[in-house]
Amino acid sequence: MTTYFNGVVVRSSGERPAVAELRLPEIGPGQVRVRVRAAGVCHSDLSMINGTLRAPYPLVLGHEAAGEVIEAGDHVTRAAVGDHVVFNWQPPCRSCWFCAQGEPWLCSTSSGIAALENGITLDGAPVHVALGLGAFATQVVAPENAVIRVPAELGFDRAALLGCGVLTGVGAVRNTAQVAPGESVVVIGLGGVGLSVVAAARSAGAADVIAVDVSEAKKGLAEAAGATDFVVSSDTLSKEIRVRTGGRGADHAIECVGRAATIRAAWRATRRGGKVTVVGMGSNEDMVQLSALDIFSSARSLRSSVYGAADFDAEIPRLAADVLAGTLSVDHLISDRIGLADVPAAFDRMSRGEGARSVVVL
Ligand code: APR
Ligand code: ZN
Repeated sequence: MTTYFNGVVVRSSGERPAVAELRLPEIGPGQVRVRVRAAGVCHSDLSMINGTLRAPYPLVLGHEAAGEVIEAGDHVTRAAVGDHVVFNWQPPCRSCWFCAQGEPWLCSTSSGIAALENGITLDGAPVHVALGLGAFATQVVAPENAVIRVPAELGFDRAALLGCGVLTGVGAVRNTAQVAPGESVVVIGLGGVGLSVVAAARSAGAADVIAVDVSEAKKGLAEAAGATDFVVSSDTLSKEIRVRTGGRGADHAIECVGRAATIRAAWRATRRGGKVTVVGMGSNEDMVQLSALDIFSSARSLRSSVYGAADFDAEIPRLAADVLAGTLSVDHLISDRIGLADVPAAFDRMSRGEGARSVVVL
């Protein structure tokens, strides 16, 4: 069954994305066709427009999404028509060295930032789909291991956020930083990812969660997420953090911007022996400078956290259960509910550091 549907497409680097009509041929064995019902606007989509991430064009944007399965190809067992599902933009193969090692988030066969595999065309020519999905669209075709079922009562908008920003933020705190009760945590960058980190750090029992952003307007959102303190980012940030942490610096700094300058700020915000966790995805050209002596004598550790360092298939059902039990709130992350045509304006708001998550609701 060939279908026509709409998606948000960027045709070249730096160009303003726009809604275009796409064509989708019959789905193949092992694939599912999903009617997208909600999709969050994540900074990685913006990075694929502005060149921070090199992406092929034309490209259907969007990867943080949930929807309803409307067709299942031959041999599909993980989902059936009518199921509510969340997308995994890095579906693991479950057979490579990393998957066998229990690190499926590092799967070596993952499709990377764009793939052509699902047969979608634009004006008669193949179009790339962001992170193998292209979810700012009314339909997505994906391999069945790129979806996981979630309870219908979760709601599509909340489910969508679990699939990228929330999993990334919560996983950085629990799996990578392993924040312990009583610790102090600095969180730099308060978008959907950073605000999820703030909430997760509080629920892990952190005594102090110092939220940092260049935009003063993020203060209210940070407090709603559970921050104990808010600081506007400046050249004197490390001094400001030391004042608030007994003169030492914080036990943890979690960077959720994706820039060398903020990674360095995170480094300097931690105490001797502190832990720096990089969650933001920056560009290949942006170099972080640290002195060899500083690396040695500060005894700090620096790690990145990719996609929450989590097994998606195990973690999403847990996060969904937490949301339904009321122990994890994601509602405060949704600042705007929008249509597909409003996605470019949502990127503008994101570039200005306004709001938390814009969510496309279809
Ligand atoms: N210092 C502090 N905060 C900053 C700075 C800075 N120098 N520059 C930008 N910010 C803030 C912005 O004001 C904004 O509040 O960082 C926040 C980033 O939020 P979003 O743009 O909404 O990004 P988000 O979707 O949360 O993703 C954050 O994680 O997964 C990665 O690719 C993603 O690198 C991105 C990061
Ligand atoms: Zn994302």
